[in-house]
Amino acid sequence: MYEAIKPLHSYFAWAVLFVVAVAVVLAGAAFISGQNRSNQKAALFAVIAAHIQLLLGLILYFVSPQGMDNLSSAAMKDPFARLLAVEHPLTNIIAIVLITLGYSRAKKMASNAAANKTLFIFYGIALLLLLSRIPWAAWLGL
Ligand code: HEM
Repeated sequence: MYEAIKPLHSYFAWAVLFVVAVAVVLAGAAFISGQNRSNQKAALFAVIAAHIQLLLGLILYFVSPQGMDNLSSAAMKDPFARLLAVEHPLTNIIAIVLITLGYSRAKKMASNAAANKTLFIFYGIALLLLLSRIPWAAWLGL
């Protein structure tokens, strides 16, 4: 199970970061240019991708030796172990909640400008949170 889920979570991360980044850029551009909501589809793709990654991440958390199995006071003193067992999962769950909230709030808004601004802010903060807690060195094999 671990051997299958880890590479899936690892490769799918590229797709998630890409679609969230595209959704942020399109929402920002639509807000600035006062466009309609043609960017709504990109925002929906980001929600779907983030939720798939959440599911993969949750499974990985229970099967990885770096996830729940590694929750110990010794691991909390090791920055890399703490990143994988606590900071990465928690921060990314918060980011995915923000993406979900941003999408559903924007969808209900009557004004295009308010909807695009909401998407830009919620998705933008979520993207920064995701980028801040990726185990970059392990992921990119540095
Ligand atoms: C959009 C959200 C997420 C992104 C973009 C993401 C991305 C990544 C990346 C790039 C890695 C490194 C993979 C590698 O070293 O090849 C990783 C590892 C990991 N992720 Fe996520 N992740 C997300 C959400 C989550 C969530 C919600 C959880 C758990 C609840 C989670 C649990 C883990 C664990 C336990 C590892 C370490 C696996 C190991 O090395 O054995 N991730 N994630």
